[in-house]
Amino acid sequence: MAAPTPHRSADWWRDAVIYQVYPRSFADGDGDGTGDLAGVRARLPYLAELGVDAVWFTPWYLSPLVDGGYDVADYRTIDPAFGTLADAEKLIAEARALGIRTVVDIVPNHVSDQHPWFRAALAAGPGSPERELFHFRPGRGEAGELPPNDWPSQFSGTTWTRVPDGEWYLHLFTPEQPDLNWDHPAVRAEHEDILRFWFERGVAGVRIDSAALLVKDPALPDYEEGTGRPPFIDQDALHDVYRSWRAVADEYGGVFVGEVWLPDAERFARYLRPDELHTAFNFNFLTCPWDAGRLRRSIDGTLAEHAPVGAPATWVLCNHDVTRTVTRYGRADTAFDFATKRFGTPTDLVLGARRARAAALLSLALPGSVYLYQGEELGLPEADIPRDRIKDPMHFRSGGTDPGRDGCRVPLPWEAGAPSHGFGARSEPWLPQPADWGEYAVDRQSADPDSMLSLYRAALRLRRGEPGFGDGPLTWLDAGDGVLAFRRTHGLVCVVNLAGAPAVLPPHERLLLASGPLGADGTLPADTAVWLRT
Ligand code: GLC
Repeated sequence: MAAPTPHRSADWWRDAVIYQVYPRSFADGDGDGTGDLAGVRARLPYLAELGVDAVWFTPWYLSPLVDGGYDVADYRTIDPAFGTLADAEKLIAEARALGIRTVVDIVPNHVSDQHPWFRAALAAGPGSPERELFHFRPGRGEAGELPPNDWPSQFSGTTWTRVPDGEWYLHLFTPEQPDLNWDHPAVRAEHEDILRFWFERGVAGVRIDSAALLVKDPALPDYEEGTGRPPFIDQDALHDVYRSWRAVADEYGGVFVGEVWLPDAERFARYLRPDELHTAFNFNFLTCPWDAGRLRRSIDGTLAEHAPVGAPATWVLCNHDVTRTVTRYGRADTAFDFATKRFGTPTDLVLGARRARAAALLSLALPGSVYLYQGEELGLPEADIPRDRIKDPMHFRSGGTDPGRDGCRVPLPWEAGAPSHGFGARSEPWLPQPADWGEYAVDRQSADPDSMLSLYRAALRLRRGEPGFGDGPLTWLDAGDGVLAFRRTHGLVCVVNLAGAPAVLPPHERLLLASGPLGADGTLPADTAVWLRT
């Protein structure tokens, strides 16, 4: 018998596999073209069979959906397109009964312009206490016709919008997402209350959106590019916010995962101190190109930055914001960068899928927790969305050069040959599915032992039963140039071949799992990974 794994203990998050559901595109229970909570509830057995420990739901709250739900009008109401609060409560309980924990997504940097606070602020006018909950300022220039500062938006363009009475308000994202003023005690109190609201409904964790952006330099100074930390990112006072949040989470045994995009490893690790966030997404690994040296540096850097604060690493290959893995790995440039996304980039999907399979075994063998984005286990490629069907504001704000993020948000295929490929829509889903989507359908892949889905199911099953995976030490082995090989405890070894030629496997007792067929002579072909018992 294997020793009990930590998956079921209070430390579950230290080595969990967490599956990201984008509710709008997961499964459509009522057939109206938009995914919903009824659809998720009906598909919970699929997630249990896949073997995930938790599900993170991107925002499901009341929202005009200008930015896919990251523009929240009310945190305590489920958007009617997705269902009701009672549906969410049932979903959380039903998932828990299947051994799956729920993680919700909180967006503290901003709200929707339809949020009652912002509507009240607009109505109340300059100088009012209602406006103090946001960043309202007079403009610069003779008649206040220029924005208060020069900050660039995270979505290209300006960060200031002028209202009819002449004041301007700050929005790091779209004008429909006004930034909250985190120096205001009411903003802090409200968010602690929102955390309690969801913890009391049984959620086990909270993903914190744009977690490094909340607090701004109070002077809102201009930002001279290249002169150090921008005045809207990673301000020291932000750590007080997370210390208070941690105290709330500890009351409920809840955990946090922060969306912290910071290039500086030391600054990043500060968010993971024992009285702050439990974990943060590993964007260094997510953006890393398919290159042995670069990946090894990313892995070593990750482990080194987490060790001093005692936090487990996370491993992420994709999410609802970035190019799907099989597409990215099938391109000349295999790194991810928001700035370089373009229409019509040549892609070799066969090569990309081979690499994505190897990357799955790599990330699932590393110490820490792993995030899977819905459809990653199906090997879905990034879809080309016709320009007139694109919804993502990132596309529009780029002036049409950036295809945006809809290509990774297309409704899932469940049944080959069924209407909307089994997604559930009676007519056209909210984003169009490519004609060949049925080839990736769950039913088809379930019947094929060599499919991406079968690989993920086998890998998750093995990982769950093996105490050597998850949290714990990693030792590199020398397997030659371009080959990543490392040992975990209990005799487990992972080898990934990124060299152009076949590689000789280290001596082993048993081959546990391979991402693709081995050579006739037992060598490991290029872009292939194995798990070995030695
Ligand atoms: C995060 C989300 C992204 C959203 C943005 C603004 O980066 O992941 O989808 O657009 O925050 O809330």
